[in-house]
Amino acid sequence: MTRTFHNLLVTGGAGFIGANFIRWLFEQPDFHGRIINFDKLTYAGNPLSLLDIAETAGPRYVFVKGDICDSAAVNQVLEAHQVDAILHFAAESHVDRSIARPDDFIRTNIVGTYTLLQAAQKHRPHLRHFHHISTDEVFGSLGPSGFFTEETPYAPNSPYSASKASSDHLVRAYHETYGLPTTLSNCSNNYGPYQFPEKLIPLMILNALEGKPLPVYGSGLNIRDWLYVTDHCSAIWRIVQEGGVGATYNIGGENELTNLAVVEKICALLDAKAPPLPSGKPRSSLITHVQDRPGHDQRYAIDCSRIQRELGWRPAQTWETGFEATVEWYLTHLEWADSVRSGDYQQWVAEHYA
Ligand code: NAD
Ligand code: TYD
Repeated sequence: MTRTFHNLLVTGGAGFIGANFIRWLFEQPDFHGRIINFDKLTYAGNPLSLLDIAETAGPRYVFVKGDICDSAAVNQVLEAHQVDAILHFAAESHVDRSIARPDDFIRTNIVGTYTLLQAAQKHRPHLRHFHHISTDEVFGSLGPSGFFTEETPYAPNSPYSASKASSDHLVRAYHETYGLPTTLSNCSNNYGPYQFPEKLIPLMILNALEGKPLPVYGSGLNIRDWLYVTDHCSAIWRIVQEGGVGATYNIGGENELTNLAVVEKICALLDAKAPPLPSGKPRSSLITHVQDRPGHDQRYAIDCSRIQRELGWRPAQTWETGFEATVEWYLTHLEWADSVRSGDYQQWVAEHYA
């Protein structure tokens, strides 16, 4: 049975995955609903990523600036827009920031998720579904073999992953205790257009283009399982429409790479597609090993056989096609990267989204 919704509340829709999700969903022929994007516009929220959608989708797209920790604002938006499903992307998402300053992670990821769950519960039965977007980092770190399954015990190692683990537990509890119709997904590392250039792939693309050092933490032999962002979007939508109520699904790309291999691939793509460095050297010469991240998880790898078997989901991109598309996107959207990194941009946000 496929669930149909008319008014989706997407939290964090101005962030990397949320913005890609909104763009992707409006392209789907079977989607005829409205999207209400509820976002606080932190440094990571970029309305520029959706400027064209705001114009083309007309009344089917609404932006509301708000904080998921603000119970009155959340209840107001659910009521005003007759929301029938919540897709919860909003979070503080960068591990290094969580190590330096965990406060916002505890507040947004834990208190914010709790606030949304309370509001969702209050708006039943009109509100019929709550999907929580989470990460494979809740499972901790793998050794050289094995995969995270939906049954792997939680063992988060960073303040970020601990806060996401807490939010996952709250979602589970609201289903078990109050019967809230929930689904939950734990996904591996995403990459693609509109990712804020603090995460590995966009940071390395822009630094390598500009001839800046490429800071690889420690040995660079840590492994991540990379998934192109629109493949994550299609998995989320499949779960929202058809996933078992109360179920969790792992999502991954089956693309395990060391950080060094990722950076070397990006350098090779840029050497082929961008003007040469003034030094004439290959961009891999910019790789600089720096101090390791504290508590750095060694390896993430996802067993995504449940979503493949039960919901028939498969990723469309390999890492080769996805990396090439991503490098090309940044090369042709440098004004986006310049804007989101500049102080002018924060001024623009303040003026347009008071
Ligand atoms: P992001 O940091 O790019 O975007 C987060 C968005 O949430 C921003 O638009 C920000 O303004 C908004 N936000 C932050 N605090 C808020 C608050 N208190 N109220 C309302 N909005 C707020 O993050 P992302 O990479 O797009 O990640 C989205 C979700 O996916 C997160 O829940 C993250 O844990 C999860 N996830 C991310 C990855 C990844 O590789 N990026 C992988 C798996 C899961
Ligand atoms: P990141 O993109 O921050 O995602 P996550 O920590 O959620 O996996 O980092 C991906 C990997 O790249 C991780 O092993 C840390 C490493 N890394 C670097 O080596 N240098 C960098 O400058 C950054 C941002 C990350």
